[in-house]
Amino acid sequence: MAKTKTTFFCQNCGSQYSKWQGQCTACKEWNTIAEEIIQKAEKISWDIAETKTNKKVVKPQKVSEISTQSESRLHTRNSELNRVLGGGLVPGSLTLLGGEPGIGKSTLMLQVALQLPFKTLYVSGEESAQQIKMRAERIHPNSDHCYILTETKTQNIFRNIAEMQPDIVVIDSIQTLQTDFIESSPGSISQIRECTTELIKFAKETATPVILIGHITKDGNIAGPKILEHMVDTVLQFEGDRNHVYRILRANKNRFGSTNELGIYEMQGNGLREVSNPSEILISKNEEDLSGTAISATLEGMRPLMIEIQALVSTAVYGTPQRSATGYNAKRLNMLLAVLEKRAGFKLGAKDVFLNVTGGISVDDPAIDLAVVAAVLSSNIDIAIDKRMCFAAEIGLAGEVRPVTRIDQRILEAEKLGFESIVISKYCKLPKDNYGIQLIKLGKVNDVVKHLFG
Ligand code: TYD
Ligand code: MG
Repeated sequence: MAKTKTTFFCQNCGSQYSKWQGQCTACKEWNTIAEEIIQKAEKISWDIAETKTNKKVVKPQKVSEISTQSESRLHTRNSELNRVLGGGLVPGSLTLLGGEPGIGKSTLMLQVALQLPFKTLYVSGEESAQQIKMRAERIHPNSDHCYILTETKTQNIFRNIAEMQPDIVVIDSIQTLQTDFIESSPGSISQIRECTTELIKFAKETATPVILIGHITKDGNIAGPKILEHMVDTVLQFEGDRNHVYRILRANKNRFGSTNELGIYEMQGNGLREVSNPSEILISKNEEDLSGTAISATLEGMRPLMIEIQALVSTAVYGTPQRSATGYNAKRLNMLLAVLEKRAGFKLGAKDVFLNVTGGISVDDPAIDLAVVAAVLSSNIDIAIDKRMCFAAEIGLAGEVRPVTRIDQRILEAEKLGFESIVISKYCKLPKDNYGIQLIKLGKVNDVVKHLFG
């Protein structure tokens, strides 16, 4: 029997201490340090590694001799996921998928598992097999390759893996796993760390891709030690507004691809639908002209998106005017209103201003400034903006219309979607002179007002 050993871990950042203390020296959080029993067996035996790889001894290799298995990426049948991963799952990689509860992590992964043409093992520590079956029936009822295992002990999971030899393993979720080698409760720092280490070892030795689902804390970080994110190869984040149907999948870290790609899904009654042309759905198809809306050509990562901005400006009933922004930074809205007041002479100080980015999407691209300004002005004087016009520019404190990055891509997206004109900064450096869309080049907010409303 190994000696019982306890250590203290900060439950917030994962720092280790030999005795208890009130405040974590590393992350300065109070009351986050808890005692955990770590009881290691003398030697961990990896039966699974032995069966699959015959215990090969690793030796140093010349860089030129190492074969890259880049062609052998496993393409999931989900093109949005493939795009975010950089082309598919890399053999032996560990992918962590984080997101708020109820956002659709389990749905996404079950859907991927059901669609895959390979043998997939979906391990759930959260739901019963019946619950998963009910969900599977909503999504994709007949799959012969997907196996469900409701288990939380890693040793039992590895035993099953050794028996069935799956091509892909999905773990839902890492916080429910428990290893026999450590006695603390599931979800604790040392359990998460140890279980992840075991899974990494399994993935690397057998070249099986493993996807982990992870919970996030209330401030948006993945629950558990920060090192969890360092240990895995790819960290994906699934986000969106739960009251809206759109979900965005992005890579926060990717050892095998870019972190600029982004996938968009729509939550439907029968699972998540891939949205391959997001711009079309984010713009409402109203026939009549409505004041207070403007369309912006933004970029989310590398992907151009046309997004509708709506503003409502009305006389403040109470002394202090209200300012509220959904999907946009409220401080930035205040700044733009100040610019309009100072540089264009609009008296918005006594008005309520409400701003909404439609579709429940949140944007932090500065290029939507101009559309925000146009929407606010349009609502203020109650004149609609031509629906075939869109905007892409940043607004500076001096009221200048500033150029934005990748203007070419934005113009081409607007052109592709049939817009007739796009308002940009006159200081933009364009790679070519002729576009199939009219370019309106302006330098100051005043020019924008004059151009739009005469
Ligand atoms: P879920 O995948 O359980 O979220 P997570 O694992 O991130 O906690 O999300 C389930 C939510 O999605 C739930 O509110 C029901 C909804 N849903 C649909 O709208 N359509 C569907 O086809 C499925 C399976 C779920
Ligand atoms: Mg879930």
